[in-house]
Amino acid sequence: MNGAIEIDLTVNGEATRITAEPETPLLYILRNDFRLNGPKYGCGLGECGACAVLIDDHAARSCAVPVGALSGKSVITLEGLGTAAAPHPVQTAFIQNQAAQCGYCLNGMIIAIVALLKRTPSPSEDDIRGALRHHLCRCGTHMEILAAARSAATIYRDEAQSVREDLQ
Ligand code: FES
Repeated sequence: MNGAIEIDLTVNGEATRITAEPETPLLYILRNDFRLNGPKYGCGLGECGACAVLIDDHAARSCAVPVGALSGKSVITLEGLGTAAAPHPVQTAFIQNQAAQCGYCLNGMIIAIVALLKRTPSPSEDDIRGALRHHLCRCGTHMEILAAARSAATIYRDEAQSVREDLQ
């Protein structure tokens, strides 16, 4: 590898050090080195959203993020949100609303809604539509995705409320 450097970052909660050329897209590192296939390769140009991940709790398009910019950052992929046995509330909402056809865009849709709810736990319809605006779905499952996002906000709010009550 010409020009490879060492980069310390956290991936799905685990501190790790990688050696890579700094301009390598994060998406390649996640899929090829970490074998994390939640983020999908769609356009490779930062336009479709299929490759989205959370970087320090903000949604980012991993195909357009050079890994060299991630020193000290925390990356969360779809795999880091929940498990099949214990899905994240947003994943639960997408399952309950059957918000998938081919499923290729779902990674980005879910990451976008998780990022939204971290900032805005009670989002308006405009907030939800704004968060999903630049995520493309070729199957046309947008209505189910919107329904899932609305119900994710409700589940998220209810779970947050029960956590608050447990703490009292
Ligand atoms: Fe990254 Fe399309 S693959 S935005």
